[in-house]
Amino acid sequence: VVTTYCPANNEPIASVRQGNLEDYEETVKKAKEAWKVWADIPAPKRGEIVRQIGDALRQKIKVLGSLVSLEMGKIFVEGVGEVQEYVDVCDYAVGLSRMIGGPILPSERPGHALIEQWNPVGLVGVITAFNFPVAVYGWNSAIAMICGNACLWKGAPTTSLVSVAVTRIIAKVLEDNKLPGAICSLVCGGADIGTAMARDERMDLLSFTGSTKVGKQVALMVQERFGRSLLELGGNNAIIVFEDADLNLVIPSALFASVGTAGQRCTTARRLFLHESIHDEVVAKLAKAYAQVRIGDPWDSDTLYGPLHTKEAVKMFLDAVEQAKQQGGSVVCGGKVINRPGNYVEPTIVTGLPHNAPIVHTETFAPILYVLKFKSHVTCMQLSQCFRKPKGSDCGIVNVNIPTSGAEIGGAFGGEKHTGGGRESGSDSWKLYMRRSTCTINYSKDLPLAQGIKFQ
Ligand code: UN1
Repeated sequence: VVTTYCPANNEPIASVRQGNLEDYEETVKKAKEAWKVWADIPAPKRGEIVRQIGDALRQKIKVLGSLVSLEMGKIFVEGVGEVQEYVDVCDYAVGLSRMIGGPILPSERPGHALIEQWNPVGLVGVITAFNFPVAVYGWNSAIAMICGNACLWKGAPTTSLVSVAVTRIIAKVLEDNKLPGAICSLVCGGADIGTAMARDERMDLLSFTGSTKVGKQVALMVQERFGRSLLELGGNNAIIVFEDADLNLVIPSALFASVGTAGQRCTTARRLFLHESIHDEVVAKLAKAYAQVRIGDPWDSDTLYGPLHTKEAVKMFLDAVEQAKQQGGSVVCGGKVINRPGNYVEPTIVTGLPHNAPIVHTETFAPILYVLKFKSHVTCMQLSQCFRKPKGSDCGIVNVNIPTSGAEIGGAFGGEKHTGGGRESGSDSWKLYMRRSTCTINYSKDLPLAQGIKFQ
């Protein structure tokens, strides 16, 4: 039994029984059985079920957003915002359910058809993190479902109530439609269940969201069995501000990106590169904006900034601030724990570090922004031209004149290298949830071979 605590006051809010490996085994079997039913349903009809799930979430958006706020600790509007992401991806998936498919390609052989056929992979395991306990499961499950897959979800143990609530909403829709609830299965659990999922050959795709460190272990376990993984790991996002930037956009963008969700997004801005000509002005304006951020209970409508998720996160924050100081950084604002119940820390700005200081290259999941100074003469206009070029940024998410966080569901979400290389949500991410067969069909009476080979 795991007790979940409210991060705003560290009061226990629920005791949730976790699944053991036997429960896991039973759940996988039921999900595999349910898949047989689900895979036979035409994709547009699966889309109709996903549409109903989106509607059920719409009806519960405020109460589910509040639960996210209570258990995860993010502010209410952000809690509602991530349920909105799930609703949006359901809408997206409904349309997609009538569009997924492959082309018929020209064959070099007369009387032959070359067809790309897409089939569901089967069972999609989804492991999500505490910071987006609703949206990330939504991106995966809505798309996986219209593709014809069953899902088995393991959320973070510290947000078990949210996982149970979301699963209940989905189960009701499935069961009202006389479908097995196990199409969207849930096992609450910790690393034992996560490891079992990574090693399990029956997990045809494993989508994992979490730290780069754990993601690497997951990737190796899945690769060991030649399985397929989709990774959405850590980030160390940077905003680059050139001399001609519009500071009316820079300040609120940097503020939301670094302080929003108390710095606990994989899209949080952690590095702010400022041209030397505007460095001092931006730091002064940003520090002023930081001082005005309204700190309070996350469910209070006036609050902009809530607690960190756990006590351990507070320790990691303090440790990172200490390291930043040791490596030559100056704390312009913040740096301390806030004297009130719960896991509150001050949003923090550190200047004076070299860009290659070890702490600057470390993702600390807390609101610490490292401000770095640069000299070269490039303008914003040149940058917006260059981001589309082959030698431009290799970031998976490239934004111009907006914050780093708050990506829309319509685009493919993810990043390269240590971010894991996966893509979820919009664009053609659906392809990751399916397997492709290249089918060549001879409808003639002859047997011409490709590449003009005669074998007689
Ligand atoms: C995450 O932090 O894992 O772009 C996801 C964003 C949100 C999703 C973040 N739409 O910030």
